[in-house]
Amino acid sequence: MTSLFDWPGFIEDAPARAADHTARDAALPAVQFDGIGKSFAGPRGANAIALANVELSVARGEVFGIIGRSGAGKSTLLRLVNGLEKPTSGTVRVNGVSVGGLDERGLVGLRRRTGMVFQHFNLLSAKTVHGNIALPLKIAGVPKAAIDEKVDALLELVGLSAKRDAWPASLSGGQKQRVGIARALVHDPDILLCDEATSALDPETTQAILTLLRDINRRLGLTIVLITHEMEVIREVCDTVAVLERGEVVEVGPVWRVFGDPQHDATRALLRTLVHDLPAELAARVKSLDEAAPDAAQVLLDVRFTGADSREPDLGGLVSALGAGGGGRVSFVHGGIDRIQGHAQGRLIVAAQLSSAHADVTHEGLQTQVASLVAQAKRYANRVEVLGYV
Ligand SMILES: Nc1ncnc2c1ncn2[C@@H]1O[C@H](COP(=O)(O)OP(=O)(O)OP(=O)(O)O)[C@@H](O)[C@H]1O
Ligand SMILES: [Mg+2]
Repeated sequence: MTSLFDWPGFIEDAPARAADHTARDAALPAVQFDGIGKSFAGPRGANAIALANVELSVARGEVFGIIGRSGAGKSTLLRLVNGLEKPTSGTVRVNGVSVGGLDERGLVGLRRRTGMVFQHFNLLSAKTVHGNIALPLKIAGVPKAAIDEKVDALLELVGLSAKRDAWPASLSGGQKQRVGIARALVHDPDILLCDEATSALDPETTQAILTLLRDINRRLGLTIVLITHEMEVIREVCDTVAVLERGEVVEVGPVWRVFGDPQHDATRALLRTLVHDLPAELAARVKSLDEAAPDAAQVLLDVRFTGADSREPDLGGLVSALGAGGGGRVSFVHGGIDRIQGHAQGRLIVAAQLSSAHADVTHEGLQTQVASLVAQAKRYANRVEVLGYV
């Protein structure tokens, strides 16, 4: 069994360390939650359930995202990893070692192997950048020369060498978070825990910090578990995503699959920021089959690409098929295609002109023509639904 203590510890050794891990225990998850339950004593003795039946496995070297509404239990779950919270039931294993079985010394070791990055940086204002990063090493009794060498290497890693002697108050949010990340890496952790690490940053700075995290993940072979309410963050950097809802995991899988074809209402609600909804102006004009005149001019189709195919969406094929099966004209009204982990996915709202030549101008005739158009479109997309008629 691997102990929490037996890893060598310098950034320079990280690639070798990562390779060593791969060889030794590639199959061993970095973090494993087994039957986790967590309740907090609430007011008047009532217990509030924060987590229930959580079964999750974080693979070594991956970037694992956790999303969920406020109060869903995300922070609580993350804090179980470094022993800041204890589960009411179940077992958390880090590198195969049960966190619950660790004594004080074991917990200190665990916290060195699991760096943590916070939303509000938590820097000491009375210490310089160097002083903030050096502090955990000082506390651990590391000699000064070794501390300086380490801090300089970390400052270079996070691109902040020029700010070595600056005070936190003089730094931008992004620079503060770089210090936070450097400080989280001082003990060469195997796992980096990030709780809303980019939530206080503007979009451009968020992008830069994400690039840094991804770079650290690749170069150091570090496993990253991150919580965010920004779906773009998950799409940009995560390999796997888990969705928490009222303390339970309601969905988990590769980001492209969960985002491309969300199964749970909670996931769909969270992803709404990424989805291209029907513009209000158009929605007001759309009629249902019953409301539509039998000689409606166009049908609006919701065409989805979930990323399940390795093929690129064939929009030319889609347009030809809809054109030939209907009245000829096809237009893209709204939507777009994104790429996640190499999978092209997205949602297009397409208006297809209907053939006025359909034999009987009745609702049945309309229905038959539209059913045939949908069948045609399904040859080119994963899901096709009729939104209505205009
Ligand atoms: N120390 C505590 N004492 C009592 N209840 C707590 C404690 N910590 C968390 N909770 C409760 O557990 C539930 C989950 O909280 P948690 O902080 O994990 O949610 P979250 O998903 O991180 O939310 P947010 O997105 O707002 O940060 C909430 O109902 C919260 O009130
Ligand atoms: Mg939280």
